[in-house]
Amino acid sequence: MTYKLLFVCLGNICRSPAAENIMEHLIEQAELSDRFAKSIVCDSAGTSSYHIGSSPDRRMSATAARKLGIKLHGRARQFQKSDFQDFDLILAMDQDNYQDILLIDPTGQDQKKVRLMCDFCSKHTLKEVPDPYYGGSEGFNQVIDLLVDACEGLLTYLRSFEEC
Ligand code: 4NP
Repeated sequence: MTYKLLFVCLGNICRSPAAENIMEHLIEQAELSDRFAKSIVCDSAGTSSYHIGSSPDRRMSATAARKLGIKLHGRARQFQKSDFQDFDLILAMDQDNYQDILLIDPTGQDQKKVRLMCDFCSKHTLKEVPDPYYGGSEGFNQVIDLLVDACEGLLTYLRSFEEC
C-alpha cells in the first residue's frame, strides 16, 4: 500500500516545503524496511496562488540547512480539488489553511483526511505552525523545531501501518 502525505500552508514556499523535506529526511534516516520507506510519498502545496512555480524561500532554506543539514527542494503549486483523491492525509499548518482546504471540499466527504500538523507534536504545545514570512529569524527557527516534532509524531503514526 502507498501512503501519500500532502503538507499545506499559504504560499508553499516556507512551512509546507520544509515539512515535506523534513519528513523525507526522517524517512530516509529511520530504519524502515526499504519497501515501506518507498511506500510513503510526500508532497506539498499552498492554498494561495501567490508563489506558483517559486523555489522554497531563501530564509527557510538557510534555516533548514543550518539546523538540520538538509537542502529544500520543490516548486510551489496551489492546492487543488483532486488532491483530496490523490492523498491519504492532508496536513494543514494553521487554522486558516485548514479552513481554506475544507472550503474546497463542499461535500465534506474528505474532511477526515485533513488534520492540523501540530496534532502530531508531542514536545510542543502550540496548536499551529506560525507563518514566518513577515517576521525575523526566530520565526524560521521555530518552524523547524515544530516541524521536526510533528514529523517525528507522524512517522510514529505511520509505523503502525508498517505491518499492513
Ligand atoms: P508559507 O509562508 O505559507 O509558510 O509558505 C508564506 C509565504 C508567502 C506569503 C505568506 C506566507 N505571502 O504573503 O506572500
